[in-house]
Amino acid sequence: MGELSLRRDKLFDALPNNTVALVFSGVSKICSEDSFHPFLANRNFFYLTGVEQENSILMIVKCAGEKKTYLFLDEYNELKERWTGKRLTFNEATNISEIVNVYANSTFDSMLSMALASSNNMYGKIENLFIDLSDEIKIKLNCSTQLFAKELEEKYPHLNIKNIYPYIVELRLVKSDYEIRQLEEAINITSTGINDLLLNLKVGMAEHELSDRFEYYGKTHGRIGLAFETIAATGKDATIMHHPIAQQVGVINSGDLVLFDLGYRYKGYNADISRTYPIDGTFNDFQKRVYEAVLNCNKHIIEFAKPGLRLCDLQEEALKFLKAECLRLKLLKEEDDIKKYYIHNVSHFLGLDTHDVGNRERELVPGNVITVEPGLYFVEEGVGVRIEDDVLITSEGARCLSKCIKKELSDIERMMKNRIR
Ligand code: GLY
Ligand code: MN
Repeated sequence: MGELSLRRDKLFDALPNNTVALVFSGVSKICSEDSFHPFLANRNFFYLTGVEQENSILMIVKCAGEKKTYLFLDEYNELKERWTGKRLTFNEATNISEIVNVYANSTFDSMLSMALASSNNMYGKIENLFIDLSDEIKIKLNCSTQLFAKELEEKYPHLNIKNIYPYIVELRLVKSDYEIRQLEEAINITSTGINDLLLNLKVGMAEHELSDRFEYYGKTHGRIGLAFETIAATGKDATIMHHPIAQQVGVINSGDLVLFDLGYRYKGYNADISRTYPIDGTFNDFQKRVYEAVLNCNKHIIEFAKPGLRLCDLQEEALKFLKAECLRLKLLKEEDDIKKYYIHNVSHFLGLDTHDVGNRERELVPGNVITVEPGLYFVEEGVGVRIEDDVLITSEGARCLSKCIKKELSDIERMMKNRIR
């Protein structure tokens, strides 16, 4: 059985009998008038089908001991293709999704009515309808899944309408070997993109030249896109957690640290890496102490993470550890000041979304992939340091997937100095 069939099979097993489930890819969001943001299918739909095309619907039926899977797509339309380009043929969709039953969207309403009708029919008696209700997913520009569910509730009062989102979350949280390989690939390409940045980094550059370069590198090396808007920040700007592209006009000065938070998306899977570099090749004393505290915390949390702990436990530990490190390194006068200099979480789940599904209170299990990203931000001194790795939870503890991207202080200084020569 292929990767996608296996995922759907696990979903079938988790859902109750006498169920129809619908997952929609969604539609592009309007940018302005008749222009649209680039389309990215609802990640739950993509997870279950591998299809990245708007107006697509997955329908699964679990009834009378049978499991049936259907995929609905826009039918071929010559004129539309003349305007907006090629769409998947049904055969191509089958090859991608491993779903044999691919039908035109025009048949969806009747197929759904047939499945949901209250009397026993070819599917048996359906009692439950599962729809992805957690986000405002647009089925059409003027119709969300919430609205669609309401309409169906009125039409089929006997149905229990439920949210499928929590069921898919359970699956997405535990990465398969295939998913881990894609994440590793995303990290490897990110590593080469960082090397390219380091080769070109110099005093006088504007921050956006770096984020632009990282994006261009991905585009020209396999047409790889970004996992999220690249953060390139120098000096005081590095103390802004998500220093936005539109404000990346700061210029790198001698003596500055340069903070990158970036990653590519490969086959849907996101890398999320942060590193901080001294532009002159050496950290000054204050920068060195800040770097050391953050690096030690990063390494400590990777060591500490293991099944049974929760992301909120990692955060508590990170806060405790950073506080002790900052006191040891004379970066803090008062213990409570740590909250001024460390204002974010140490981890989030990572996968098809950069901030992937799963809440901070659930216990980690093998197969979870998380980030470990402590940071310290001293606004007055213009020093921001974040060191972020991507980490797989294993039965023994945690394995760092981004080891290939150097972070030891001596390595960083050596790399920067060799580069400057
Ligand atoms: N990489 C950005 C973030 O984790 O928020
Ligand atoms: Mn992150």
